[in-house]
Amino acid sequence: MKAVQFHEYGGPEVVSLADIPAPAPAPSEVLVSIVSASVNPIDWKMRAGLVREYFDVALPHVLGRDFSGVVRAVGEDVEGIAIGDEVFGVADAMRQGTHAEAIAIDAGLLARKPEAIDHAEAAALGATGMTLIAAFEDAASIAHGQKVLIHGGAGGLGHLAVQYAKHRGAEVIVTAGKANHEFVRAMGAGQVIDYTSCDFAEVVSGCDLVLDTIGGEVHKRSLAVIKPGGILVYVTAQPIPPYAVRENISVLRAPVRGGRAVFERLAELVSQGVLVPAIERRFPLAEAPAAYALSETGHARGKIVLEV
Ligand SMILES: NC(=O)c1ccc[n+]([C@@H]2O[C@H](COP(=O)([O-])OP(=O)(O)OC[C@H]3O[C@@H](n4cnc5c(N)ncnc54)[C@H](OP(=O)(O)O)[C@@H]3O)[C@@H](O)[C@H]2O)c1
Repeated sequence: MKAVQFHEYGGPEVVSLADIPAPAPAPSEVLVSIVSASVNPIDWKMRAGLVREYFDVALPHVLGRDFSGVVRAVGEDVEGIAIGDEVFGVADAMRQGTHAEAIAIDAGLLARKPEAIDHAEAAALGATGMTLIAAFEDAASIAHGQKVLIHGGAGGLGHLAVQYAKHRGAEVIVTAGKANHEFVRAMGAGQVIDYTSCDFAEVVSGCDLVLDTIGGEVHKRSLAVIKPGGILVYVTAQPIPPYAVRENISVLRAPVRGGRAVFERLAELVSQGVLVPAIERRFPLAEAPAAYALSETGHARGKIVLEV
């Protein structure tokens, strides 16, 4: 089968489209014929060796985490999933990835694709969706009327976070580049701050919750805009510089995890019309390097998807 893999850590040149043996499912696994897979920043970070400390994978390694597709074979121990089912999910980072024609994956790492969205949208939902659940349902929660600041609101994770926070009845403030202001307003942002020309810390204060998808100085400066008792929830992005912790707020890392229950929760949110993944561009699998390059700019609007 065709798969996009890298043979050594490095720049875009170490990625190639290869012919590799199709995987066979173990007893607890299913074989999924992948229709769509999305591109996440973790893909280029992994290829560049930036996350080797956490994911020291065997090379060559097939890139990609999330996917949507059709079940073609079912291991003997698998229950509740049948051949022909349309499913979506996120593969374990240490295993073969999803930028390929098929994957053998533990049946507990996927759920049925919601009918309201197509395979590309379901693929776009996986990794960012599970991160959203970790941030806004596991680490923190949003009550009606709370003031919520979302950094990087135009990105793959951010645009879902904006939709979710709006649905919860929050006052949603978003940082985004000027070109994405209309987009994040359409997602549900009430106030949009152009981070390229304005320091958010000078115009925002008293937040109940801040979602940091950027890291670095953005993380550090966010502490000052949170009200006593409020929460800063963050994902692993740029390294965070040392800072003096404020005692009257909580700083929590989103405990990202996949699994059937998380994907069923995402499917529920899609079926309720809360989450609608936005896709900036779709690339054929053979053009994966161009898709990674777009992701690597750090300015994706919504999601980038590979059509297999
Ligand atoms: N995907 C996941 O589920 C996941 C899980 C854990 C960690 N992370 C990490 O979280 C980060 C975001 O992930 P993502 O998938 O949302 O990335 P993404 O799709 O590449 O989006 C990044 C967004 O950040 C915005 N941005 C860049 N610099 C900014 C700044 N200084 N202030 C505000 N916005 C800024 C960009 O918007 P403009 O074009 O408007 O600048 C872009 O839309 C990445 O570092 C990723 O590795 C992601």
